Amino acid sequence: MFELPTYRAPKDSIVDSHAHLNDERFDGFRDEIIEAMKEYGVKKIVNCGTDYQRIEECLQLSRKYDFCFTAIAFHPSEIPDDTEIDYDRLYEIIKTERVVAVGETGLDYYWRPDNKERQQREFVKHIELAKKADLPIIVHDRDAHADTMEILKTHKPRGVVHCFSGSVEMAKEIVKLGMYIGVGGVLTFKNGRVLKEVAREIPLEKILLETDAPYMAPEPFRGKTNHSALIIYVAQTLAEIKGVSVDEVLKVTAKNAEELFGI
Ligand code: NI
Repeated sequence: MFELPTYRAPKDSIVDSHAHLNDERFDGFRDEIIEAMKEYGVKKIVNCGTDYQRIEECLQLSRKYDFCFTAIAFHPSEIPDDTEIDYDRLYEIIKTERVVAVGETGLDYYWRPDNKERQQREFVKHIELAKKADLPIIVHDRDAHADTMEILKTHKPRGVVHCFSGSVEMAKEIVKLGMYIGVGGVLTFKNGRVLKEVAREIPLEKILLETDAPYMAPEPFRGKTNHSALIIYVAQTLAEIKGVSVDEVLKVTAKNAEELFGI
């Protein structure tokens, strides 16, 4: 099941820029949790579909709940070995459904160190799809910082690098490209020192808050099922780092996400 925060964020103050509420970990209580979120200050949620089936699951959520939006892509670790990704099919979905971004796409050398070149090719094709559809991209980068930067610098998409795990220098380069930095539960972890430094150095105007739910639950819920209402704990930590109020953090980061995704 799930646990709710010990206090409520102001009404309609949280925009979760990256979640997977379609995940099977929510089976049996998905509607209950989504409805509870509205009472805990969640205004909008972007769910990321990571293959055809999960894209359809996310779309079903956005058909049912008007505050749930969908991003579509093949996650780098979900790229099929034996078939090509049908980008025309993805474009068709974008044209006919409420899709607000292409993502999450990118490079994952942690789970798939075996097909790096294929991942790079597909990442570029996702960027081209996003440009064709005039949508931002949501980038996944795990253990692939150098190649991710290379592709972003060459192709210059607009969008966000989600669950950012790079250095301060890399974050600054991303901001220079006009992109956003996605920050989630890791910010609250004891071993989140580098991310805290990144958050200190990057303007609040370039930060998006996210959960990556059901993963990456912030302290004091680390290891438990994450969901959008728990973003309040990330916002609290960010407010301390920035020396501003939690309300200010929520207001600015919500506006950032709404502007980027046009929601
Ligand atoms: Ni994700």
